[in-house]
Amino acid sequence: MLSRDGEPDKPLGRMDGGTLPPPPSTKTELPAPYGPWMEIAHDLPQLIASHRLRSHVHQMPQLSARHLRGREELHLAHLVLSFITMGYLWQEGEEGTVKVLPQNLAVPFWEVSQALGLPPILCHADFVLANWRRKDPDGNLDTIISLPGAESLRGFILVTLLVEKAAVPGIKAIVQAIHAILQLDHETLHKALQELAEAIGDMTKALARMHDFVDPAVFYAVIRIFLSGWKDNPAMPGGLVYEGVSDEPLAYSGGSAAQSTVLHAFDELLGIRHSEESSAFLRRMRQYMPPPHRAFVEEIRRAPPLRQHVLSSGDARLRAAFNRCVCALADFRSYHITIVTKYIAVAAAKAKAGRAEPGDGPAAGKPPSALETKGTGGSHIFSFLKSVRDTTREGVISA
Ligand code: HEM
Repeated sequence: MLSRDGEPDKPLGRMDGGTLPPPPSTKTELPAPYGPWMEIAHDLPQLIASHRLRSHVHQMPQLSARHLRGREELHLAHLVLSFITMGYLWQEGEEGTVKVLPQNLAVPFWEVSQALGLPPILCHADFVLANWRRKDPDGNLDTIISLPGAESLRGFILVTLLVEKAAVPGIKAIVQAIHAILQLDHETLHKALQELAEAIGDMTKALARMHDFVDPAVFYAVIRIFLSGWKDNPAMPGGLVYEGVSDEPLAYSGGSAAQSTVLHAFDELLGIRHSEESSAFLRRMRQYMPPPHRAFVEEIRRAPPLRQHVLSSGDARLRAAFNRCVCALADFRSYHITIVTKYIAVAAAKAKAGRAEPGDGPAAGKPPSALETKGTGGSHIFSFLKSVRDTTREGVISA
């Protein structure tokens, strides 16, 4: 569905897979003994639509994760088991949840999660970072595992991936910037900041592709619930018992791009300080990143502070380049709020109006109401997003 040319190709469009770094897993199938997991995972949209996923999971043999070899297979297993888990939980919508994840799913999911240092729930690293493959030599991309939502779901995952891809030169620029600070090399630092600002601008452009590929009604009524977690979610107030793992229910936040390393890394480099409440949420989201990503963000935090360096240099050119990064980041966050308004607030209002007029609602499914004002990560959406955007703007260094 995504191609090198970057030009729309009806009905869904084609986009450039280009120079994407390898996903955590380049494999798309687990070894043969894990066939029962793969079979279910590849059939999730159909099994969920026909309300048969739970019975298929109950019949699944209990397989040990011990035979998975290396991080590639572990990441693929986490992707597969997290998608099956989300499907199992939300198959009957927010009013038909279960309190227990059966042992034959819960135990291997727990084992794989422990081995990777990830929580036993779908994370951004599963949903996006590990969930893409090249469909053909032209660079067309596709997802590996799917959920209900058809082309909109695929578009949502792959556009988010393209935002991550656009961030790659920015991530490289962070490393260059830190080296340049240590070597007092203002020329290289200036260049790195220019590259960072450009990368953030490109991320905003990539984010705009959401409009081309994702139908708001499908996103809101069909897709979103499958990303929802069992922490701070009124539809699952008691959490979830992972049978064979813990007798007490456990609570985990749902998948959210707030778990992407990229903006955490930019914030740390630019010395953006969010409000206590927003920082607490974002810090919690770091626990849903692969440990090496988390360590990268922490390392940037410990590096010599860029902002201080720019301030004390008295170099107007450096200050301007720094401020362009901060403004680009605030602009990305403003544009993200526009997207969230369209895909959640406006879509929720339309879904409500549809509920009031029977027969007029989205044909695709019954929209969830528990998360009308909350993100899948569990945040109070707009106060959180606006606070984070505004504190970003406050990071500008005035002349
Ligand atoms: C239809 C598309 C999208 C919607 C509806 C959406 C929605 C949300 C919501 C509701 C939150 C609040 C946190 C939570 O509870 O989950 C959030 C946070 C966040 N989202 Fe998105 N999002 C979308 C696309 C993206 C994309 C493509 C990215 C880029 C990778 C992204 C990056 C972020 C970040 C970094 C945060 C944390 C807040 C911040 O640092 O500014 N989002 N998003």
